[in-house]
Amino acid sequence: MRLAGAAVAGLALDARAAEKLAIQVRSAYSTEETPTPYRHVTGYNNFQEFGPYKEDPAELAHGLRTRPWSVIIDGLVQKPKTLAIEDILKLAPIEDRTYRLRCVEGWSMVVPWLGFPLSALLRQVEPLGNAKFVEFTSVTQPDVMPGVRRHTLPWPYREGLRLDEAMHPLTLACVGLYGEVLPNQNGAPFRLVVPWKYGFKSAKSIVRIRYTETEPLTTWNALQPDEYGFYANVNPDVSHPRWSQARERRLGEFFKRPTQLFNGYADQVGQLYAGLDLRKHY
Ligand code: MTE
Repeated sequence: MRLAGAAVAGLALDARAAEKLAIQVRSAYSTEETPTPYRHVTGYNNFQEFGPYKEDPAELAHGLRTRPWSVIIDGLVQKPKTLAIEDILKLAPIEDRTYRLRCVEGWSMVVPWLGFPLSALLRQVEPLGNAKFVEFTSVTQPDVMPGVRRHTLPWPYREGLRLDEAMHPLTLACVGLYGEVLPNQNGAPFRLVVPWKYGFKSAKSIVRIRYTETEPLTTWNALQPDEYGFYANVNPDVSHPRWSQARERRLGEFFKRPTQLFNGYADQVGQLYAGLDLRKHY
């Protein structure tokens, strides 16, 4: 962990117009670990809407239409709202949040994400007293998404968090990486990043956030509940039926390294799960 920078600068676009996000502040939550090279972060992706292979998103996601873009916030709220991406970008100062990303498939990266706490977005509406979860829905654009056309998953891609997880300061409304606006293959123009959970919880290209009373049905959990839990907290002691989770391979490295409980964020998030059997509530 590193201490917060002195000042927080607002979002501004530099001379390369919509390509770069002006810097901002390195968050107290950023890891000091060396970021994974840009070519891996933007060339080795999971974005099933564009196909099953790691190279598919980088090859095909250029067709994703990211403007105009708006996000609906509805469900158990006093008054639903629809926010344009331009307004979302102005909600809070953009921070550099360099986080570890751990995929359930056993690989990991360190990504210098840009974004702000998701709580700033969630606070744009007033939830009703019985709201306990939030569901995130990704966009579907079948004409440019071969995976959607082939019905490889029950689209749209859906994810969800308990409300206290969604409001946790580590949970990021992500709009960029490596100082730039999010590349399409990484979930432009707006995605979720939940660093203590397996990567599939971090839904890309989000168009809807819905407050619910009960645990939302999420894509992978609904498809294979014994393989993909709703909680999906990174845990070296709970193995996936096909992949031991004890160790992981960081992209660009040869030797595997031990996986850390909550992906190394136990001090920050461990108390969210006090009393919960992490083996049962995988
Ligand atoms: N979001 C959508 N809409 N579709 C996906 O297929 N894959 C998830 C997650 N978000 C996925 C998604 C998985 S399995 C991982 S590991 C991360 O995105 C990968 O994010 P990255 O490609 O930016 O590294």
